[in-house]
Amino acid sequence: MSDIGIALTYARACAASKQIICPISLHQVNLKVMAEAVAFSREAERSIRYDEIVPQIGALVEGETDLVANLANVAAVLKEVFGFFWVGFYLEKEGQLVLGPFQGPLACTRIDFDKGVCGHAYTTGETVVVPNVEEFPGHIACASASKSEIVLPIKAANGEVVGVLDVDSDKLNDFSGIDAEGLKRIIERIEKTL
Ligand code: SME
Repeated sequence: MSDIGIALTYARACAASKQIICPISLHQVNLKVMAEAVAFSREAERSIRYDEIVPQIGALVEGETDLVANLANVAAVLKEVFGFFWVGFYLEKEGQLVLGPFQGPLACTRIDFDKGVCGHAYTTGETVVVPNVEEFPGHIACASASKSEIVLPIKAANGEVVGVLDVDSDKLNDFSGIDAEGLKRIIERIEKTL
């Protein structure tokens, strides 16, 4: 069996066995792209799952300079690992936030900088956690099923905000400091590629 085949077999077995620490990683087999091999503990609390996937996402995006390709893979991993209702990116283009790679139901295509949770995170450069979207003034409801939300800015090396990561849940109060910290670590891996 090829190296990729062996790695894939191990990674799948590891994920299926729900081990906290898997015996193989993308680094160990020296593979740049193997999205199928993201291994995580399906039943574990979120903090553990963040610990597991951050280095794997780092390995996945490092060395790849195409931002859209990297964001597409990150959205896919977050959707698979956490089952979020909607996870995706908005990128600054010509004075607006424009929909980028995402996973979930179709979403608003363009957001003005002074609108919504995404606009707020973009203009302040700060992470925004919204426990109940109905209580956030100006929240943009792309889907009525969305109940809580977290949005993090993505910054270039000069500190300029170039886009945001938006994660929506169909449960109230679904995001905590654990998500803010875990997603921030993922954003940092993306920022290193900018
Ligand atoms: N709710 C967001 C808009 C984007 S969607 O949720 C995908 C906002 O208020 O900015």
